[in-house]
Amino acid sequence: MKPIPTAFITGASSGFGLACAERFAAGGWNLILLARRTEKLKSIKAELEKNFKIQVSFLTVDVRQQTCIDAISKFLKACKCTPDLLVNNAGLAVGMELIQHGVLDDWERMIDTNIKGVLYVSKAVMPFMVAAGKGHIVNIGSIAGKEAYPGGNVYSATKFAVDGLTKSMRIDLLPHGIRVTQIAPGAADTEFSMVRFKGDFEKARSVYKGFKPLSGADVAEAIWFAANLPAHVNVNDMLLMPTAQAGAVHFQRD
Ligand SMILES: NC(=O)c1ccc[n+]([C@@H]2O[C@H](COP(=O)([O-])OP(=O)(O)OC[C@H]3O[C@@H](n4cnc5c(N)ncnc54)[C@H](OP(=O)(O)O)[C@@H]3O)[C@@H](O)[C@H]2O)c1
Repeated sequence: MKPIPTAFITGASSGFGLACAERFAAGGWNLILLARRTEKLKSIKAELEKNFKIQVSFLTVDVRQQTCIDAISKFLKACKCTPDLLVNNAGLAVGMELIQHGVLDDWERMIDTNIKGVLYVSKAVMPFMVAAGKGHIVNIGSIAGKEAYPGGNVYSATKFAVDGLTKSMRIDLLPHGIRVTQIAPGAADTEFSMVRFKGDFEKARSVYKGFKPLSGADVAEAIWFAANLPAHVNVNDMLLMPTAQAGAVHFQRD
């Protein structure tokens, strides 16, 4: 019998990460979920284990902290588990001020989560994949990592970094049979805009006004597709947009 694969998903408590957990659970994969909100992870684990014949573990970890590397390594050693797939998804945009009005704390949060977080989690997981001689890393980039837009400055810079890191990881990991993919979505309706606009509901809703944005499930389906191609096939980069969005600032709104 084929062994059951395991997906390690960061940012699994909402949005793309949660949808990805649901998609892979439905596909029969075991899951390791990571985020900071323990209660959310607990109820997601209970729900998925109730509905699907899979095992779900979770780690309450802040990917901005270097200590997460050790926590993840210890966890993987203890469960004797090498993830077949790592989805580096935890991330956020905070604020949309023009660069000259930028808020230092917002900059730090984005740089620490979106760049250092991807590095720290990958640093913990890669040795297991290298030892196994296989694996797949999917980094969640963004249209903001392909194009700049007004007020996108530091968020864009972090996602351009993810784009660069993905290319570089693919080269460095080439001898080890590890696939590396970037999925770069356009506008998607998740908790993303509520986080970006610091709980301002009206501002957050206005982002999606007059067009149909991507859903978490749309992005999860793209990750599922990339992860389930034959082992000799790699999706290097997928830019996934709502049909009503043609670029970072080009929308067809009703
Ligand atoms: N929505 C969009 O329009 C869009 C478009 C392109 C790219 N993206 C990217 O897609 C990814 C997922 O975003 P989303 O739209 O799904 O947003 P979301 O619903 O806000 O989900 C973000 C996830 O990241 C986790 N997270 C944030 N900071 C963390 C930290 N320091 N340590 C551990 N986990 C952390 C959050 O969990 P906790 O709060 O529980 O820690 C949450 O599970 C991000 O990288 C984002 O930049 C989003």
